[in-house]
Amino acid sequence: MITSKLPNIGTTIFTRMSQLANEVGALNLSQGFPDFDGPQALLDAVARHVHSGHNQYAPMTGLPALREQVALKIAACYGRSVSADSEITITPGATQAIFCAIQTLIRAGDEVIVFDPSYDSYEPSVDLAGGRCVHVPLSQPDFAIDWQRLADAITPRTRLIILNSPHNPSGALLTRRDLDQLAELIRARDIYLISDEVYEHLVFDGAKHDSVLAHEELYQRAFVVSSFGKSYHVTGWKTGYVVAPPALSTELRKVHQYVSFCGVTPLQWGLADFMAANPQHVSELPAFYQAKRDLFCDRLEQSKFRFTRAAGTFFQLADYSAIRDDLDDVAMAEWLTREHGVAVIPISVFYQEPLKNLRLVRFCFAKREETLIQAAEKLCRI
Ligand SMILES: Cc1ncc(COP(=O)(O)O)c(C=O)c1O
Repeated sequence: MITSKLPNIGTTIFTRMSQLANEVGALNLSQGFPDFDGPQALLDAVARHVHSGHNQYAPMTGLPALREQVALKIAACYGRSVSADSEITITPGATQAIFCAIQTLIRAGDEVIVFDPSYDSYEPSVDLAGGRCVHVPLSQPDFAIDWQRLADAITPRTRLIILNSPHNPSGALLTRRDLDQLAELIRARDIYLISDEVYEHLVFDGAKHDSVLAHEELYQRAFVVSSFGKSYHVTGWKTGYVVAPPALSTELRKVHQYVSFCGVTPLQWGLADFMAANPQHVSELPAFYQAKRDLFCDRLEQSKFRFTRAAGTFFQLADYSAIRDDLDDVAMAEWLTREHGVAVIPISVFYQEPLKNLRLVRFCFAKREETLIQAAEKLCRI
């Protein structure tokens, strides 16, 4: 028998809920992907490049034209001038970028602070590097950093802190004040950051995303990760990027080179073309997704679910205690899927130690209007 290096890992809840949704014919508001396609011009551009022979390996660091577009976007959004050559690396998805950044930094015995609830890829990636995750729960009900708990969790072994803003699953945003406070806390320490900003363009109600890219001090020790999948409605393309100062990028690229070598060539060409022709696309995303959030939430107001509208991401949390307080959230997710035809994600799976009496499920609102309306109707009938 092989001895597992990840003995505690089974099939992820995202796969399980999507499978169950298919099995019982439920509307799938569980896994985080749109049920609509990316922009037609983007799909056409990729098809064009497939047919014009752009089908061999891309450069290891990513197609220069795409890295150039990312640099332009970063300058426009965050006012930072980054070098497309030495600071931007295109990866096959944000998950791979995060994995590579963790392998770059973490040695046996190192500690990595993650904030719970946290995205599920962080911990196994740290485990595989021989490190250990130290889980710091975000405060309730606002999913903010508890600064005292964070300070208490830092030890001489702490090598990395993983940030995620806008935050999956809560939609909470880190503010400039949070980043300043973090900078103060780690200033004198040898601690690096991964800033998972895959939902960077999905912020609502006029809020602005405070990227680590816009924070001079923190950026010097950071790997900032994003995903074209989220920003261009093409999660299945698994194409992302990581931005880091040259010395960090050099080390990350050594790992990336032997994990995948490069991302998918025609996707990179298509994205580069589309970004050059449609630089406004990302600034249209807040209104696009806020309309979906509000369509769903306006209707959900008529239900027994209780919620505060998400500040960012394409996820909406809702408290179901007025409906089935007797069920924990995993049982509730199954019940909603099987009995009411709407698949959701329980949020306890994002915790090392789920909070007692947590009665929250996560809905993904990256869906067509008709899907959201139908789902809300079903949920209002409960
Ligand atoms: C917080 C967070 N980070 C990373 C990812 C992964 O992005 P990608 O599909 O580009 O690997 C996701 C996708 O759900 C996510 O929610």
